[in-house]
Amino acid sequence: MDSKSTGTSSTATLKVKDHTVEMPLRSGTIGPDVIDVGKLYKETDCFNYDPGFTSTANCSSKITYIDGDKGVLLHRGYPIDQLAEQSNFVEVCHLLLNGELPTESEYQEFSGAITRHTMVHEQMTRFFTGFRRDAHPMAVMCGVVGALSAFYHDSTDINDPEQRTIAARRLIAKMPTIAAMAYKYAIGQPFIYPRNDLDYTSNFLQMCFAVPCEPYTVDPVISRALDRIFILHADHEQNASTSTVRLAGSSGANPFACIAAGIACLWGPAHGGANEAALNMLKEIGSVDRIPEYVKKAKDKTSGFRLMGFGHRVYKNYDPRAKVMQKTCHEVLDALGIRDEPLLKVAMELERIALEDDYFVEKKLYPNIDFYSGITLRALNFPVEMFTVLFAVARTVGWVAQWKEMIEDPEQRIGRPRQLYVGEASREFIPRTERG
Ligand code: SDX
Repeated sequence: MDSKSTGTSSTATLKVKDHTVEMPLRSGTIGPDVIDVGKLYKETDCFNYDPGFTSTANCSSKITYIDGDKGVLLHRGYPIDQLAEQSNFVEVCHLLLNGELPTESEYQEFSGAITRHTMVHEQMTRFFTGFRRDAHPMAVMCGVVGALSAFYHDSTDINDPEQRTIAARRLIAKMPTIAAMAYKYAIGQPFIYPRNDLDYTSNFLQMCFAVPCEPYTVDPVISRALDRIFILHADHEQNASTSTVRLAGSSGANPFACIAAGIACLWGPAHGGANEAALNMLKEIGSVDRIPEYVKKAKDKTSGFRLMGFGHRVYKNYDPRAKVMQKTCHEVLDALGIRDEPLLKVAMELERIALEDDYFVEKKLYPNIDFYSGITLRALNFPVEMFTVLFAVARTVGWVAQWKEMIEDPEQRIGRPRQLYVGEASREFIPRTERG
């Protein structure tokens, strides 16, 4: 295939057997061009083949841009480190959903609306009693968030922009409440209702850690750190769980059910489950002197072991979020007076060794966002099983923003990929009595 500019537009030419196909090359604002292969099958009777979608763009989007080689992450054009340092999570939610940072009055309206949607229907509390107390909280989140669709299915016309906005706000607002309920249920404590006098992240902390018997004061250092962690996890282009939400949404499914599908996909250890897996790995390594043994295992393909929190499909340079996450980790440990956190020592030594090891350098395996988030969340007193739940709370805004963009995109239609069939060719049925 080659590409050339032909006056106002450029095309890619593909020769397939005795066909020559000209396909349009489309450019975005920044980043790689795309070859529009929409007519490939019709003109060549061939599908393009790209398991894992390593070279496939499934949509156009204005929300997030990633440059994996330069370690760049922009949300609506704003660099992630500037948002993490200077903004707050609710303001980033407005930016992701609406495309602009809010004015003061827009911020007050948006933040007030989110606050007023934080309560869940009292019937929701009944869903929890069906789970064992030791159920993984991500299993609870899949079930209970999916059940939200039972409360709103008949009041959500996704073709009405107003109702898409209400559904998006309800999801952003109710995820912390449900996440905190999942945590309280696991530890046998009573659910704590949201408080409208607290900001988003402080409210989440009090729903997790307050008890009815005594007043609870939110530590502003912890609240600020967690708010920054939420910003770092808010959206990330067409990652696996976001693509899941888009695909589910492309059939017109209820947005609450689509987010439940995203939660299910995020749970995997190769994706959002990596923060839990990375902390468990650091605990298993246990001490600095055992790191070489694990680095050796990670390089041995037959071991099936991977360094959790390392590597990324897109970032072939440092994950810019990991830099901010590492800084936040140190700030939290310093603020909490946790000087000699052994897992931090193991993490920093593992990072140093990996970044100097030819295997990891060659394969461009750098720490990703999940490498330091686990240590930080543990220092904030969250149990390891809750780490991916917190990832889901933060990523809900990215999922709903991408879902909304997909519904509003005139190019979008139901997602229905094809395949390379490698099974049996057609054959005649043989009655059981005549089989060997
Ligand atoms: C997230 O997509 C996103 O944006 C996701 C995310 C988001 O915000 O939504 O950023 C969040 O999911 C971050 C990633 C968290 N996952 C982990 O930390 C799990 C460990 N990492 C890997 O499993 C892996 O790196 C992936 C899944 C993250 C990326 O997988 P790819 O792009 O499909 O890469 P690959 O599996 O093809 O690996 C390429 C090579 C392989 O060796 P070769 O076959 O080329 O010889 O690198 C090796 C792999 O064996 N490799 C690793 C490794 N990751 C890849 N070797 C050791 N340890 C690792 N962690």
